[in-house]
Amino acid sequence: MSDQQTLPVRFGHDFLRSLYHMIHTARIYRDNNQLVGKSVHSFQSILNEITVAGDIGLVLWRGRFHIGGERLPYRRDGAGVVSAMVEFFSRRRIGGIRFLQASRNASSEDILLFARLFTGALQERDPSGWLDRKLREVGLVWVQVSPKLDDDQAEEAASHEEKLYEKARNTYFHAVETVMDVARKASKGMVGVRKARRLAQNIVDLIREDKALMIGLATIKDYDDYTYTHSVNVSLLATCLGRHIGLSDVSLEYLSVCGLLHDLGKIGVSKEVLLKQGALSESEWEQMRAHPLIGVRQILMLNAPEALRSRIILGPFEHHLNPDMTGYPRTVFMDRLSLLGKILRIADVYEALTAQRAYRPHSYTPDEALRKMWQEAGIHFDRILLKRFIDMMGIFPVGSVVELSDGRIALVMDYPDESERSMPLVMCLVDQGGGELGRGEDIYLAGQAMKASTERLNIVRGLSPEGLGINPAQYFLHEK
Ligand SMILES: [Fe+2]
Ligand SMILES: [Fe+2]
Repeated sequence: MSDQQTLPVRFGHDFLRSLYHMIHTARIYRDNNQLVGKSVHSFQSILNEITVAGDIGLVLWRGRFHIGGERLPYRRDGAGVVSAMVEFFSRRRIGGIRFLQASRNASSEDILLFARLFTGALQERDPSGWLDRKLREVGLVWVQVSPKLDDDQAEEAASHEEKLYEKARNTYFHAVETVMDVARKASKGMVGVRKARRLAQNIVDLIREDKALMIGLATIKDYDDYTYTHSVNVSLLATCLGRHIGLSDVSLEYLSVCGLLHDLGKIGVSKEVLLKQGALSESEWEQMRAHPLIGVRQILMLNAPEALRSRIILGPFEHHLNPDMTGYPRTVFMDRLSLLGKILRIADVYEALTAQRAYRPHSYTPDEALRKMWQEAGIHFDRILLKRFIDMMGIFPVGSVVELSDGRIALVMDYPDESERSMPLVMCLVDQGGGELGRGEDIYLAGQAMKASTERLNIVRGLSPEGLGINPAQYFLHEK
């Protein structure tokens, strides 16, 4: 996928950085300063580069920049500039800037004038309207400014986003059906894994494109067919963790398939045991403890190439084993767990703890689940991997319902800047009457640096979605 990256995506970070530097130096120094001249020059040369094929739009949408209709990928070394520019745009209520191809002929003086007007717009009552008028007044016709979320460019970004959501939705529900199908047919030995593998490829692609969306979808819970949604969620979370620690695409695909199939053995456990409220009796436990082994037997019966089969057996076998090899199933021929097994274990426990299950009155909020798991680090989980998992999920993982310091309720949607692990992009949930909570304003908590500290919002605590009648998944599925 990376070799298919378009010019704007490849140059996106450099472009944003050069714009940031130009604005920054122009703010501090006079026009004839050498640094100003240099920063204008480097902005101009990147602008020339990315307008080779046509006009280019820089659009801020839902706290993320899109360049030429594509989301700017996350880069750790670019995070500071991105968050400064998000704030720069937001404070001026500017949603997008479009550089026309004619900008290639603009003089350095004109470019600098643009930078000064862009900065100065902050003083005006309607910054984007003022800026747009002013640019035309002084004859800078090669650049257009549009207000927040209100023009074609934002729609372009929105339609790209919408397609992504649709692909994510379809992949999710196909994955649930596939796991069901495999579970139904596996014992008859008539099922292949081609479909599961294709889904795993889609999952890996989608996570590469929008990890937050996939973690959000992993909040989907289904009471009746819990094992199936659970399996898909585990696959998503495990694959995200695998990507976070830098596994290759091929390994991620195996990991994703492992997640989908890890509880296949539960078809050998009776529904009464699976759904039982309260403690299990010894014989019921015995049934339960057999599921990893039954699962391995099912996987062995799948119609799959030998090489693939051997890569997807170990993880499911190990997903209830602790690092010291206690847990189940008892094994004497292994003395340590595989990497995929350790990853699956973390994703599996996190998913199970946060699931709202009919037979369990209390489920953990995501932040509580992470805290509980951390208390058990080393005993139940590989400590280093768990640390990476928590690091990836943030203090309040995507999909958490939280209370803000002004009392509003919000849903954690994304961590646009991964170095700000307590300052996500949140969406306020507003009462629409009749107890329905609808989509409200987006607030990027890390983007408030310019506000007085008394006005800055932060997260006070995590809330239980059941208690409030909220189903976080619906907001990621883009349902009303
Ligand atoms: Fe399991
Ligand atoms: Fe599981």
